[in-house]
Amino acid sequence: MKTLTITRPDDWHTHVRNGALLKTVLPDTAKQFARAIIMPNLKPPVTTVAQALIYRDEILQAVPVDMDFTPLMTLYLTGTTSEADIKLAAESDAVVAFKLYPAGATTNSDAGVANIKAIYPALSALEKYDLPLLIHGEVTDEHCDIFDRERLFIETHLNDIVKNFPALRIVLEHVTTNEAVQFVSASANTIAATITPQHLLFNRNALLAGGIRPHYYCLPILKREQHRLALVAAATSGNPKFFLGTDSAPHLSTLKETACGCAGCYSAHAAIELYAEAFERADALDQLEGFASFYGADFYRLPRNITTVTLEKQSWIVPSAYGAGDSTITPLKAGETLSWKLR
Ligand code: NCD
Ligand code: ZN
Repeated sequence: MKTLTITRPDDWHTHVRNGALLKTVLPDTAKQFARAIIMPNLKPPVTTVAQALIYRDEILQAVPVDMDFTPLMTLYLTGTTSEADIKLAAESDAVVAFKLYPAGATTNSDAGVANIKAIYPALSALEKYDLPLLIHGEVTDEHCDIFDRERLFIETHLNDIVKNFPALRIVLEHVTTNEAVQFVSASANTIAATITPQHLLFNRNALLAGGIRPHYYCLPILKREQHRLALVAAATSGNPKFFLGTDSAPHLSTLKETACGCAGCYSAHAAIELYAEAFERADALDQLEGFASFYGADFYRLPRNITTVTLEKQSWIVPSAYGAGDSTITPLKAGETLSWKLR
């Protein structure tokens, strides 16, 4: 049987929620990833070190006893985040970064930043304390076409941020466009990006052609094929600025299969297998280990993992749902066949 053994990967962007949903999804992340960057967009958002420590404990409680998993916590940047908050975070071993959501850009972002220029003092403090800034890079202007929101964020906000804070380490999360790939590639080594499995595997036809498929709806939204191709080229290039971040974002199936469905794809059930599929299609399986296991750790200045995982070339059918009763989650590629399986 064909196998692929790589250093154990990390997930540099994921949503594991809390409460019952956390218990359902966390084992999927913990079985394959040694560490994961945990997004802070709970209700209410995780804005302080004290809240992050409580949330971290809840996550650790959900790790199955036979698994070894470290959650890396992030704090939610708001219009009132102070330099003192940032100093406390920098001094905490549990918190590794701050997350900037433009207000209204995505799921649970109401508490996000309405005026980006107004938080420049906080960005200056992040630069001073050397804490990375993770950005959901989409403008929120309701008149802006949803397919242009990432490109416009780069033009309107990111260019300025990068110019004003040259030493600030920034991760442009879940990039979806050729323009984002170009911007990150041309920037200094302080700027990196994560790429999701869905944006490597699908274009917007998966969401909209032949019927509307809510389980392919996430933000930033799937784009045209030319953008998918740019993302595949970046992910498989060996350029350490691009690394794995699933953006696995579970929502109950009932909340996605409705007249106004939630944004987010659940991919933690088969994340590394989905990436393996995308890399194999690009004839670049030899680049998977750098993307999945090395470049993110290097950017966050954390040690690379030393254990390994093995994938087997073996067909399996993704379950149609996870969870029980009316609390189920529909995973990416539900009911479809995958060609790689984590041993
Ligand atoms: C994420 C969520 O559900 O929390 N949704 C998504 O579509 N990606 C939020 C986010 O990362 O934008
Ligand atoms: Zn996300």
